[in-house]
Amino acid sequence: MDKRQEIEDLLKEYNQEHIIKYFDKLNKNQEEELFKQIQKIDLHQITELYNNTKRPIEFKESKIEALKYLDKAKLTKEQKTKFDDLGKQVIKNGQYAVVTMAGGQGTRLGHNGPKGTFKLDVYGKGKYLFEILVDNLKEANKEYGVIINWYIMTSKENNQETIEFLEKNNYFGYDKNFVKIFMQSELPIVDANGRLMMGKNYKIKEASDGNGGTYSSLRRSGCLTDMKEKGIKWVFIGPVDNALLKMADVTLLGMAISENVQIASKSVVKANPHEKVGVFCKMNGHPKVIEYSELPEEMAEEVDNDGELKFGESHIMCNLYTIDAIEKISKEILMYHSAFKKNSYIDENGKEIVPQQPNSYKFESFIFDAFEFFDDIAILRGKREDDFAPVKNAEGVDSPKTAKELYEKYWNKRKN
Ligand code: UTP
Repeated sequence: MDKRQEIEDLLKEYNQEHIIKYFDKLNKNQEEELFKQIQKIDLHQITELYNNTKRPIEFKESKIEALKYLDKAKLTKEQKTKFDDLGKQVIKNGQYAVVTMAGGQGTRLGHNGPKGTFKLDVYGKGKYLFEILVDNLKEANKEYGVIINWYIMTSKENNQETIEFLEKNNYFGYDKNFVKIFMQSELPIVDANGRLMMGKNYKIKEASDGNGGTYSSLRRSGCLTDMKEKGIKWVFIGPVDNALLKMADVTLLGMAISENVQIASKSVVKANPHEKVGVFCKMNGHPKVIEYSELPEEMAEEVDNDGELKFGESHIMCNLYTIDAIEKISKEILMYHSAFKKNSYIDENGKEIVPQQPNSYKFESFIFDAFEFFDDIAILRGKREDDFAPVKNAEGVDSPKTAKELYEKYWNKRKN
């Protein structure tokens, strides 16, 4: 059977035969590229993921309990010194690495380019988000007398632009030999009827598969092996878009070692019981981040003996893992979530359609869905004003304006 026939049969089997109509528009090269791409797509998986969007969400009978945490501000002097010393030693021994997740699309911010290339208007001159992260790493390097290995995850969409930007800016003075850039994988997006969509250059439209893809991408890219060869024991995975992110928090690291856990996470307390954030809990005996929409109202308001919210620790994407934990998760299959979003496409006449309303499903896995593979994780409560200045929305909450204010306030306090 010739290749074209083979591909056509495959598409028909999964109700994707509309794609065949594009074939006659393609030159030899485009045809070859498209056929190669289609063969790599798991059409069975995509059909399943689409069908799942039509199934009502089942809230299974679950036992939800509070997850204990330590408040950094309330540690005794002895506890703090013990944790910090343990953490410092690991970093000084060169056993610590940082991963930055920079593969997101940043749709809410609407910046033209990878999010790390967004310039936050701080102190007049401004700083790029990547530059802020480098500053933070350099500060740690100076303090602990090492150069921390830094792994940056990009997406297919923004990889080239990210590399060019970092090269052009000379990695903001970071030693390039200690930086590795790797790409996360992608999944096709589908329209409201579950049909694949054609993108520019006549390739099936795909998008990055969510920050939960970090684990398997670390393994597939060879970065995990690289870490092991370098003797790295602990890996911090953080976002690109938190202007107050601490890339090397020795207290968090020391706490993880002291508590003998494989994963530790930094939290900040919810701004109010109904803030729309995911919070830590234990579900059916395993650590989990529960979405605000799944947390019963009375639980969201419940307080403990100290008057603190029982489910008040928000997940802020500051997660620390042993290398073994990353390896284990990288071989597991995480669940996928779907989001209905706006995506342009090429119609059967070759015309680009730019939708005004959401028109397609994107499938993503989330970094925190891996926690439930473990019996326990340790949580360290930080402080919003020290740890959390997210750049998510173009305006309003968690916007460049709020992040600038938080960043400048923090650094003014540090300078005084
Ligand atoms: P968000 O989930 O907030 O997504 O990412 P985003 O792309 O920044 O913004 P929106 O939702 O499109 O507006 C949190 C962190 O996870 C990374 C982001 O780059 C950010 O650091 N991320 C997200 C990835 O690395 N890959 C993804 O597929 C998704």
